[in-house]
Amino acid sequence: MQTYITLNDKTKIPQFGLGVYMVPEGAETENAVYEALKMGIRHIDTAHAYQNERGVGKAVKKSGIPREEIWITTKLWPSEYGEGKTAAAIDKMLDRLDTKYIDLLLLHQQFGDYLGAWKDMEKAVKAGKVRSIGISNFESERLEELCEAANIKPSVLQVECHPYYPQNELKKRLAPYGTVIESWYPLGHGDKGLINEAVFTKLAEKYGKTNVQIILRWHIQQGNIIFPKTTNPQHMKDNFDIFDFSLTDEEMNEIRKLDSGKRFFNMSLEDQEKNLGAWSPAD
Ligand SMILES: NC(=O)c1ccc[n+]([C@@H]2O[C@H](COP(=O)([O-])OP(=O)(O)OC[C@H]3O[C@@H](n4cnc5c(N)ncnc54)[C@H](OP(=O)(O)O)[C@@H]3O)[C@@H](O)[C@H]2O)c1
Repeated sequence: MQTYITLNDKTKIPQFGLGVYMVPEGAETENAVYEALKMGIRHIDTAHAYQNERGVGKAVKKSGIPREEIWITTKLWPSEYGEGKTAAAIDKMLDRLDTKYIDLLLLHQQFGDYLGAWKDMEKAVKAGKVRSIGISNFESERLEELCEAANIKPSVLQVECHPYYPQNELKKRLAPYGTVIESWYPLGHGDKGLINEAVFTKLAEKYGKTNVQIILRWHIQQGNIIFPKTTNPQHMKDNFDIFDFSLTDEEMNEIRKLDSGKRFFNMSLEDQEKNLGAWSPAD
């Protein structure tokens, strides 16, 4: 049975979903999301910057599954931040996704007028256009700045998180706000070195699972929300098949020993800010 997490605003998010970063808009996104929904996955993580929200919306419609059974997360880009501007961007998002409401709306990056954007996001919650609001990539002191300024505290913080970089310190900073971690790069963006670590191979043999399934199960037991990306139906099926076994406390601790401070995304904040335009969504 798949698991849910009750967020600080009392909404219940499926702890496992499908991420569609770098999945091309059109048939590829539509097919991947449709496949996921058909196999029981009920949580999709997209973003305006991924430029595939329309494909997500089409797959949700095509599935015939009642909208309230599916959790859709999307993200605003800094070019859309600012009071008034963000409100208009949310309306366009609803159009692209072809939905009346977004389950979880995130600030994608910690640049620009994020405080102004947050005010519009809070208004969108009150207007019923968005159910839950959160942030992504806020790891600097801007995290506390936003959390202190916010009337509605962020429900989630989406950041790079995997066994090499489990975000223990960040979790302590989030505790006062009741904000939980969503892991991006849960599989290290598919890094073979991480996936083939001996401890995963050993546990995979014990449980009759794959190394990837052991990593994903570790995230679940860490309390992280995950949405590994794949367009391969067999990988998708395997990734979702992690709710029929549990790692022991000892095994969880063994995996925690892999914490080495290694990150796979290492661009400085300055360079990220300089590159915002390059990632800026076209429409
Ligand atoms: N907020 C942000 O700034 C941010 C940044 C990055 C990512 N994200 C979110 O996090 C999601 C996940 O991150 P990610 O896609 O970059 O990395 P990831 O999920 O850690 O890794 C994806 C890679 O793992 C492979 N893979 C997936 N399942 C597998 C399996 N069962 N066996 C072997 N290989 C497998 C995929 O290849 P195949 O397709 O061949 O299976 C793909 O190459 C994204 O889709 C996005 O929603 C957010």
